[in-house]
Amino acid sequence: MEEIVSLCKRRGFIFQSNEIYGGLQGLYDYGPLGVELKNNLKAAWWKSTVYNRDDVEGLDTSILTHPDVLKYSGHEDTFTDPLIDCKSCGLRFRQDQIPDECKDEVLTDPRDFNLMFKTNVGPVTDESSLAYLRPETAQQIYINFKNVLDSTSRSLPFGIAQIGKSFRNEITPRNFIFRVREFEQMELEFFVLPGEDEEWHKKWIKNRVSWWEEQGIPSDKLTLLEVTGDDLAHYSKSTIDIMYKFPHGEEELEGIANRTDFDLGSHTKNQKDLNITAKVKDNNDSNTRLAIQNDNNDWIVPYVIEPSAGVDRGVLAVINEAYTVEDLGDDKKRTVLKLKKHLAPIKAAVIPLKRNNDDLVNLTHTIKSSLQQYQIGRVVVENTGNIGKSYRKHDEIGTPLCITVDFDTLENKTVTIRDRDTMEQKTIALDELNKYFIDFFSDVKS
Ligand code: GAP
Repeated sequence: MEEIVSLCKRRGFIFQSNEIYGGLQGLYDYGPLGVELKNNLKAAWWKSTVYNRDDVEGLDTSILTHPDVLKYSGHEDTFTDPLIDCKSCGLRFRQDQIPDECKDEVLTDPRDFNLMFKTNVGPVTDESSLAYLRPETAQQIYINFKNVLDSTSRSLPFGIAQIGKSFRNEITPRNFIFRVREFEQMELEFFVLPGEDEEWHKKWIKNRVSWWEEQGIPSDKLTLLEVTGDDLAHYSKSTIDIMYKFPHGEEELEGIANRTDFDLGSHTKNQKDLNITAKVKDNNDSNTRLAIQNDNNDWIVPYVIEPSAGVDRGVLAVINEAYTVEDLGDDKKRTVLKLKKHLAPIKAAVIPLKRNNDDLVNLTHTIKSSLQQYQIGRVVVENTGNIGKSYRKHDEIGTPLCITVDFDTLENKTVTIRDRDTMEQKTIALDELNKYFIDFFSDVKS
């Protein structure tokens, strides 16, 4: 983990947030390379979940959330962790995360600590203006169910996908970006006919495991864990967690829950008329029926299958898998980030042999612009004047191709291409470069 944290900071993937004022615990900022990697991961999810299917719509909802949403979802009552104070050092911990040095000290009994961040909307700060920062993106999807249905005329089964920030005031954030207080989720709420839920649950578990494999996580690093007992959320009939061997241990990367008709049933009006199977709070505040008519024109509340993945945990997992230190012999090593091409923050670096030679540098910029026009991802000019150093840097940040512009480029119209993984270098004609580039990244745009 330390090597990854160090690489992330040194090369501009991830920084401690608010660092110049001492930092804020459990918050991180994504730097120039981190934002590209994160965007690429989110784009891969959106492509697979929305564009490549015919049964999912997208959504982007507000973060500030009406307290009634989180009252009826159960978050106000149950979104808590057990908090314990150590009377010796005065620090507070989650019950299952008491550090060894406090275990023999006098500890308070555990008490429930609600993880939601509160704020106020508008100029008056009292109970009437209370709002929460959403603790999951899912709730806003449920409360928009009718809007999406009315504007798209969907019928079951269909899903609504959203990527966005969620906020949890974790008692003990830890392990770099694994457990943080502000993070992003990629959530799909897939609405199905009651009775078809178990079959769809299985399908989505399979789908999600293969998606993580496509992001570079080998299947032997992923295990499926059935959540049981107290760990099973109040809304869930069955949850399977996809567990990944993070550098600090095996933990949850994504959860796939069968949420039954709990959510739409909790937020709908006219609950009594809708044969809701889940145990929900009586709702006299909602003004909208969150149900759909079946072939017999009967109103039914769909069941929901929810694959919910953390973007930040995904970023940590793909970096961890890609991070490789290769022994080159003669006591030489190279660090290389073997990211899948579509995730690489920079697709190609164009490098002039000499940094102060105008002809070389101008041609380098022309080549960069020419490759950038395909919008496959970011292409950069790397003008350090030191080819070896540039190769080392781009290995470390996972750039699949380095293209060197030298005097042969000026005289014979050729460039040298170096492959990140094999380190093989080949010389090709400059007028073949664009085709080479497009072919090399042909699987990235699909
Ligand atoms: N809507 C369901 C839901 O939010 P969850 O298991 O609480 O379920 C889903 O969260 C995913 O969000 C987790 O699998 C994890 O990847 C990510 N996640 C949850 N809490 C997190 C935190 N404090 N920091 C980073 N990621 C988190």
